[in-house]
Amino acid sequence: MLYSLLRPILFTLPPETAHELTLSVARLSPILGRLSGSCPSDRLAIQVGSCQWKSPIGLAAGLDKNAEALPFFAEQGFGSLECGTITLRPQLGNPRPRLFRYPKEQSLRNAMGFPNEGLIHIAPRLGGFEATLPVGANIGKNKDSNPEESIEEMSIMMATLADDVDYFVINVSSPNTPGLRALQERSYLSELFQELQSVSKKDLYLKIAPDLDEKKIIELTALATEYKITGLIATNTTIMPERGVGGVSGVLLKERARKVRKLILDQKSPLEIIGVGGITNFQDVKDFWMDGGKAVQLYTAYVYQGPELLRELNREMIHFLDQNKLKNLTDFFKLDLKERQKCLQPLPKPESI
Ligand SMILES: Cc1cc2nc3c(=O)[nH]c(=O)nc-3n(C[C@H](O)[C@H](O)[C@H](O)COP(=O)(O)O)c2cc1C
Repeated sequence: MLYSLLRPILFTLPPETAHELTLSVARLSPILGRLSGSCPSDRLAIQVGSCQWKSPIGLAAGLDKNAEALPFFAEQGFGSLECGTITLRPQLGNPRPRLFRYPKEQSLRNAMGFPNEGLIHIAPRLGGFEATLPVGANIGKNKDSNPEESIEEMSIMMATLADDVDYFVINVSSPNTPGLRALQERSYLSELFQELQSVSKKDLYLKIAPDLDEKKIIELTALATEYKITGLIATNTTIMPERGVGGVSGVLLKERARKVRKLILDQKSPLEIIGVGGITNFQDVKDFWMDGGKAVQLYTAYVYQGPELLRELNREMIHFLDQNKLKNLTDFFKLDLKERQKCLQPLPKPESI
């Protein structure tokens, strides 16, 4: 309600100014998070890797890059939070403007380039945050480091944060750091996985781009399975050169991201697959469940719809459980895929008299 009044005002500001203003308010007034947010029912809690999410809807990386407003976001109604991308050293990112809106298409395009305050400033915030839900750290390389150095950087970040977060995400899929996506290569990733697994036993995910070809996606799924990392996060933003530089998120990404997620799920690997990219409403969540998925994350839809989106999703998930006479979502995910798909079929319309 409050957000629907504020949004038109925020949208008169340049996108990054609106983002910074919102984050400052969120940082200074965490209580507003509770007043505008909603708490997921216990019936929505699910196991994701070794973490118990409060609901299957997590906050995707990039919104709270510096972990500065976690107490606010923890009260909004998410099932988990992911901060970052964090780099070892602070960096400014690309020159502005670097964030663009497509309101009619409920989409964004960003060319941020990992602006963040660096590990030294972010680590104490994560250490001091008394989490009531799982928190992940999304880590990436500094712009000017070479692949060998980047492995060392991520290793240091993981060692520093291991006691303070619940899971880690390797981000080699942003289109905004030159040469980064080339690191989705087998030789680099196998070395990186081995190094990070020797540093901490915390859950480890790889976030992938939606612009990889099918062969590459299958290869990465196999590699992640071989190294027994926890799972994949699919997907990051997509390149659409006709729109400009950077990566596109939201509705414009939905179809492409869904195809990638389905392809990964069809491999029937033991990996945990977290779905992200264009999740805008409960139908998108159900589509992911229909394809065999479980937990999702979102970013752009939250920018457009605010905390009302979470309230609505949490309400619809409860309604879904009631309709199917299920005690909780854990019981739903215990069903085999065919049974789950049956629950997800639209109910037949009542016959007219
Ligand atoms: C402005 C902006 C900044 C982002 N920054 C990051 C980031 O730092 N690290 C990352 O892994 N993903 C980042 N993302 C990608 C999101 O986490 C997500 O994968 C993508 O936006 C697709 O989800 P959505 O359609 O729900 O927004 C960013 C997205 C946006 C819109």
